[in-house]
Amino acid sequence: MILTSSGDDAMNLYEIDNVSKVFRNRTVLSIDKLVLEQGRIYAILGPNGAGKTTLLRILNLLDRPDTGDIRFMGSLFTPGFRSWEISRRMCMVFQRPLMFKTTVYNNIAYGLKLRKYSRRQIDKTVRETLDFVGMTDFMHYPALKLSGGEMQRVALARALVTRPEVLLLDEPTANLDPHSVQIIEEIVRKHHEEYGTSVVVVTHNLFQARRMADEVILLVNGELVEQADAAIFFDNPRDERSRAFLDGTMVY
Ligand SMILES: Nc1ncnc2c1ncn2[C@@H]1O[C@H](COP(=O)(O)OP(=O)(O)OP(=O)(O)O)[C@@H](O)[C@H]1O
Ligand SMILES: [Mg+2]
Repeated sequence: MILTSSGDDAMNLYEIDNVSKVFRNRTVLSIDKLVLEQGRIYAILGPNGAGKTTLLRILNLLDRPDTGDIRFMGSLFTPGFRSWEISRRMCMVFQRPLMFKTTVYNNIAYGLKLRKYSRRQIDKTVRETLDFVGMTDFMHYPALKLSGGEMQRVALARALVTRPEVLLLDEPTANLDPHSVQIIEEIVRKHHEEYGTSVVVVTHNLFQARRMADEVILLVNGELVEQADAAIFFDNPRDERSRAFLDGTMVY
């Protein structure tokens, strides 16, 4: 669903100010300022433990930061505040998708049932989405029996079926073969183009970031090292640490 009022169009998707997250006395995320615009694809890169998943969970309003403010489409979220009305406009696909112990169809229908769609609406939307991700043949299959790549497609379908304005993807193609990677990227791109969905994708796959992202954000040790247009980031990064990260010579 795209925003209707013209006033919203100029609004930033997210604005983050002085956000930090501490686990067991260790600051794992500390971001002074981050602005994400609507309708773009962002890739978040960074070494293991850099805080990428932590940031994504905060963007999804799933976890509270210990300090700082988050604005989503102009609405301010102080730590701890969560609104179902706002959360339903975002959808996150997790690093390890959990399937419900039921059919592929029911897994995808779940979010629509929660939103009190009618049976007819649910059936129509689920079938459209299955088709969108190329999983129609698996409709009545038990989701837990799917292969990793198939499961990832169902996880994506489960997110897309609710037509989120923002899609937050945490390593959606880790462990997938090149063809499955291509399928997932294509699904995300198609959704982005058809519905104007904003996308934030965490990935260790630099080729994927280059293929998909308009902008790249590099996190190292919980800090935002660089945010730049993808072409600039990959060809001519400003920060020494970005260069080292891309070269594979970063020491951490
Ligand atoms: N619930 C938690 N409790 C304690 N420590 C945590 C928790 N979640 C994350 N951390 C720590 O915070 C740091 C950042 O974790 P995070 O999962 O955000 O990293 P990441 O960038 O997603 O790494 P990866 O690439 O390995 O997925 C890590 O050092 C991790 O151990
Ligand atoms: Mg992670």
